[in-house]
Amino acid sequence: MTENQDTLTITDNRTGRTYEVPVTDGAVRAMDLRQIKTHESDFGLLSYDPAFKNTANVRSRVTYIDGDVGILRYRGYPIEQLAESSSFLEVAYLLINGDLPDAGQLDQWVYDITHHTFIHENLKQFMDGFHHDAHPMGMLVSTVGALSTFYPEAKDLDEAEARYMQIVRLIAKMPTLAAFAYRHSIGMRYAYPDNDLSFAGNFLNMMWKTTELKYEPDPVLERAMDVLLILHADHEQNCSTTTMRAISSSDADPYSAAAGATAALYGPKHGGANEAVLRMLDRIGSVDKVPEAIQDAKDGELRLMGFGHRVYKTYDPRAKIVQQLAHEVFEVTGKNPLIDIAVELERIALEDEYFIERKLYPNVDFYSGIILKAIGIPTSMFTVIFATGRTPGWIAHWNEMISGAYKLGRPRQLYTGATKRDFVPLNQRT
Ligand code: ACO
Repeated sequence: MTENQDTLTITDNRTGRTYEVPVTDGAVRAMDLRQIKTHESDFGLLSYDPAFKNTANVRSRVTYIDGDVGILRYRGYPIEQLAESSSFLEVAYLLINGDLPDAGQLDQWVYDITHHTFIHENLKQFMDGFHHDAHPMGMLVSTVGALSTFYPEAKDLDEAEARYMQIVRLIAKMPTLAAFAYRHSIGMRYAYPDNDLSFAGNFLNMMWKTTELKYEPDPVLERAMDVLLILHADHEQNCSTTTMRAISSSDADPYSAAAGATAALYGPKHGGANEAVLRMLDRIGSVDKVPEAIQDAKDGELRLMGFGHRVYKTYDPRAKIVQQLAHEVFEVTGKNPLIDIAVELERIALEDEYFIERKLYPNVDFYSGIILKAIGIPTSMFTVIFATGRTPGWIAHWNEMISGAYKLGRPRQLYTGATKRDFVPLNQRT
């Protein structure tokens, strides 16, 4: 019994042969299936897993999620404790370095990030080239990618110092690019970073500073923004992080990889969901229309944005924190009426068999958009803020990957197209 504990015995019914493959950390290696063949020249058995629903692509020490019970931990620390007691930059340090910083390390880290928030003036001109109604996410994807042209040494992945500089620059410049994209979209001159302010406070400054000599963020809204960034900082192998890893596996520089990750985040099934939630709540319009919306979702005519998750099959722990945070923000901003529609939607959905059966619960995006809206952030900026928050997570995974042994990411396919056929000249095709 004990001898076979960590192995799996597979019988191939095509040949009658039996194989024993090791089981490590609850997984079999797909490459161990390759030995299973029907004849000598057979390529060997592949595993087929569209959308990677049951495939672990990496061994990672960054973030732990138990989606069945709603646990999220960064480097072992529960998200609830980090949201309560930490700051975004401290969490960024934790994710990238593996441990919480001591006071000296934190001071240096905050200093380094704060002193790299400015972007090259030429990058500003790049931003100016976008059409006035360009979506800020489109602008962000392009300008993050463009950063690689300003820092060609970013390709020197083996140089620890160069690597550190790219890490600092990416985290520091993301909010500047994000805020500049917004200012461009409303035709206002850019507000430069203010080094006296916190990371979140400076972001609000770059969004809203107009003629005042010094912008002073409201401390509640500044803290709310910081907590939202913490909640979005990492989520293990999600679509954008997987993109970051896939691009980086070719040894591309981290700016190009982060541009790809930002693009992956843009879609409404991933980071774009917070924007989509707000549009959905706006469309529903009032609490009495909620049952109709639920019915549409059940009939497959409406995807309830902010509901459901590939990993969480219970309440997303981040959604709980955001829900509490919403009430603190409303004390300052006044209540956003969309919250009533959201609460009613959640109430009805959580009692409905369709949602119970499919384990569909609110995810982080369900309430985050309502807070952002209350703070005064325009809907088109929601995903941009998500990208700013997720940047340390992308970097932590990139850094983890290139610090160890890795290979070019390159999945296999099951070819289902035509077998060989000969070219037919145009005049002979029917
Ligand atoms: N509204 C209504 N029905 C849903 C929803 C939803 N939001 N999500 C899933 N379902 C249903 C599907 O129709 C399907 O039903 P079926 O079995 O009758 O066909 C079943 O639940 C399973 O859904 P899948 O799409 O197969 O689940 P998957 O794990 O692929 O999807 C996803 C996860 C993409 C997040 C999905 O739940 C969704 O689209 N949600 C809305 C978008 C969203 O909020 N995205 C943010 C995710 S969190 C983040 O990225 C930060």
